[in-house]
Amino acid sequence: MRAKLIVGNWKMNGSRAGNATLLADIVAGLTGVITDQAPPACAVCVPSPYLQQCEEVLSGTPIAWGAQDVSVHCFGAFTGEVCAKMLSEFDCRYVIVGHSERRAYHMESSEMVASKALAALQEGMTPIVCVGETLEEREAGQTEAVVGAQLDAVLEQLDADAVARIVVAYEPVWAIGTGRNATPEMAQAVHAHLRSRIAVRNGEAAQRIAILYGGSMKPDNAAALLAQPDIDGGLIGGAALKAQDFLGIIRAAK
Ligand code: PGA
Repeated sequence: MRAKLIVGNWKMNGSRAGNATLLADIVAGLTGVITDQAPPACAVCVPSPYLQQCEEVLSGTPIAWGAQDVSVHCFGAFTGEVCAKMLSEFDCRYVIVGHSERRAYHMESSEMVASKALAALQEGMTPIVCVGETLEEREAGQTEAVVGAQLDAVLEQLDADAVARIVVAYEPVWAIGTGRNATPEMAQAVHAHLRSRIAVRNGEAAQRIAILYGGSMKPDNAAALLAQPDIDGGLIGGAALKAQDFLGIIRAAK
């Protein structure tokens, strides 16, 4: 059975003082909830300036940390970019790639997302590859085609071994930050489809890879979503900014 994974995506939120309180409350709330015998695994993906704070506060706790984006380049004249090697210096375990906000506002193509996933893997980090359809695409019956193409673009760049080292997040664009989550049945159908696409490349990896759901996951809808056979965890935006909500979702994953 796949262990559950709950990841907070802070987006562009936080402050040194606020983070200190939030992280301390999460760590305190997790005492006894996460043990070696009792997964879920859990992590927060924070703005890059706060990675050092995460390293200081979270080392030795059950909570891992990561970034929300990575450059496709390794070094050089790319003002404003942060490369995978820099992130790995802060012991990041995860890097979100291809979040719909980056695809929409920064024109990231699926090919670019694939390069970012590869960059993260090369530095020993786990890319959390986000895919998701817009409302128009869902209503046009294109959900599987859209998310399938987004995922295939990444899988095509990876060898069978690397395929086994990614995490996938299904985040319907219309559910992000809207309070309107996909029903468990809707999400399960897409997750099963994504797993079948992975199975084409690496059947064994398909059974092992975590496929997270993201989009208005909250403590009160998490248990039903996480009970679905192909939903292996959550990528949590708004609810990850409140310790009690984040903890509530982690408890629901137990
Ligand atoms: P949300 O965001 O939980 O606020 O909907 C999820 C995400 O964008 O990763």
